[in-house]
Amino acid sequence: MPRTEFISTGFHVPERVVSNAELTQWWETSDEWIRERSGIRERHWVEGGKQAGSDLALEATRIALERADMQPGDLDCIIYATLSPDHFFPGSGVYLQRKLGVPGIPALDVRNQCTGFLYALSVADGWIRMGQYRRILVVGAEVHSTGMDFGPAGRDLGVLFGDGAGAVILGPTGDDGRGVLSTHLFADGRHAELLWCESDASAHNPRISHEDLDAGRQYPKMQGRDVFRHAVTRMPETVKLALETNGLGIADVKLLIAHQANLRINEMVAKHLGLREDQVYNNIDRFGNTTAATIPIAIDECVQAGRLARGDLLILTAFGSGFTWGSAAIRW
Ligand SMILES: CC(C)(COP(=O)(O)OP(=O)(O)OC[C@H]1O[C@@H](n2cnc3c(N)ncnc32)[C@H](O)[C@@H]1OP(=O)(O)O)[C@@H](O)C(=O)NCCC(=O)NCCS
Repeated sequence: MPRTEFISTGFHVPERVVSNAELTQWWETSDEWIRERSGIRERHWVEGGKQAGSDLALEATRIALERADMQPGDLDCIIYATLSPDHFFPGSGVYLQRKLGVPGIPALDVRNQCTGFLYALSVADGWIRMGQYRRILVVGAEVHSTGMDFGPAGRDLGVLFGDGAGAVILGPTGDDGRGVLSTHLFADGRHAELLWCESDASAHNPRISHEDLDAGRQYPKMQGRDVFRHAVTRMPETVKLALETNGLGIADVKLLIAHQANLRINEMVAKHLGLREDQVYNNIDRFGNTTAATIPIAIDECVQAGRLARGDLLILTAFGSGFTWGSAAIRW
């Protein structure tokens, strides 16, 4: 069975940069509070109503295609991970497919929030190893800024999230030693309401009411401390599992890219695992939490900066709403 290799990567964020200071026009907060608690300095937000997540995904995909010297027609499958789909239905994958001009190829939406890219990667890896598809586009794309609560109750989440998209093109490699070595996925729905968006919802009738709107149920809600506590336990666990599964150790890791929800979480994860500073990559200071887009954006930045060379061991890990979490081990 062939392994799955990364053929190409790309990312795109909206032009508009929003600093911490700018957020103080909506929320009682400060640059100091945000930087100290989360490590975030700025994030990118779309010009609301003019750019959808699938537009950001399209730009990221164009870059990845160009770098691979490929045309949209060379793709044979799209997997689109997002927490913030363009519409309730159909899925965002079909909008991206339409914008790419490649009718016919399958477009799967993955809805696993901050772990979405890892779930999507795992599915793509299975399909490639089975031989079902040979050129799979996996994108993670989010537009959070149009769904924020700009009232006082929204400040805890509002300061953390950014918009953006990352894309990777995956295919089979004949080189036995390289590619995706393993993926590990987990979920625990007992914690679903610790980080969620209640409405609109088909579980309600009507799906959204005036009462829901007045109560702000259309906005995401989070029990930050609980999420933090679980994240700092689950991510190291899955990194260890990824290494053990492949008979590898911490010293073998060239780079760990952990989901970027909070720099303090990632510092604790790195410390717990005994990783040196040069073995981890963080970019949350410039992008905030871009959920499913975070990991592919970070991978692309590392590739472009020359931080990943052929044969390097890359470990990915993520934790998020659901709860969902997981890891992947990749021989670059
Ligand atoms: C959100 C997070 C940064 C908050 O940090 P924290 O140290 O846990 O802070 P708390 O929520 O306990 O709030 C502490 C105080 O700061 C206040 N606060 C919350 N958001 C604030 C903001 N943006 N600016 C200023 N003050 C804020 C709170 O109201 C609280 O005030 P109080 O003590 O008077 O009640 C942190 O919990 C976190 O990062 N959690 C995990 C987030 C995550 O991973 N999310 C996504 C996973 S995909």
